[in-house]
Amino acid sequence: MAFQIAPSILAADFLHLEKDIRLINDCGDIIHLDVMDGTLVPNISFGFSVIDQVAGIATAPMDAHLMVVHPEKWFAKLASDRVSMCSFHYEAAGRSTSRHIESIHALGMKAGVAINPDVPVEKLFPYIGKADYMLVMSVFAGFGGQKFIAETYERVARLKAEIARRGANTLIQIDGGVGAGNVAAVRECGVDIAVAGSSVFGAQDPAAAIAALRGV
Ligand code: DX5
Ligand code: ZN
Repeated sequence: MAFQIAPSILAADFLHLEKDIRLINDCGDIIHLDVMDGTLVPNISFGFSVIDQVAGIATAPMDAHLMVVHPEKWFAKLASDRVSMCSFHYEAAGRSTSRHIESIHALGMKAGVAINPDVPVEKLFPYIGKADYMLVMSVFAGFGGQKFIAETYERVARLKAEIARRGANTLIQIDGGVGAGNVAAVRECGVDIAVAGSSVFGAQDPAAAIAALRGV
């Protein structure tokens, strides 16, 4: 599958959100929606009052990144909003991870399992071939605009090697600190989907920034 860019609207202009959603529809691959509860992560972002409205104009696929405890409470509501990709954190789910993947699939969505940088990437191995994608955080979840953690390259490469060894088609997404300066290395280590917030919406020309990240 071609390398994809998922702009995160966390860094968008919330006073003119329609403009930024249409930009992703036209130029991006996936609309990344960061949902935070102030408990799993030390910040609060937005919830369904925003997602419902985004869904009304989204034509690109929507990807919800649930940084919340008890993510399973929200799967059905996300599916009813036509969200097609839904990830939750392993730190929140623990032994319920397989069950959550099955619940997300039963609702017709692709399932992603996310981990913060301090969780060994091997914790994802039992879900290779079950989850559709793994979200390897390249910053600690909670805030946009943080610096990319260089150990991510090695973590992604280890995960990629295990996916290949098993002949699975699970994709790897990374999220945090991705920009023009590191996207080539990100791609090189095996990432399939790169989330990008500030490097897209902080750019003078966000459409050009997306195209540059995608390498076209
Ligand atoms: C952080 C979020 C990210 C964030 C990335 O918790 O999951 O999606 O928006 O922002 P940048 O690209 O600015 O690091
Ligand atoms: Zn995210």
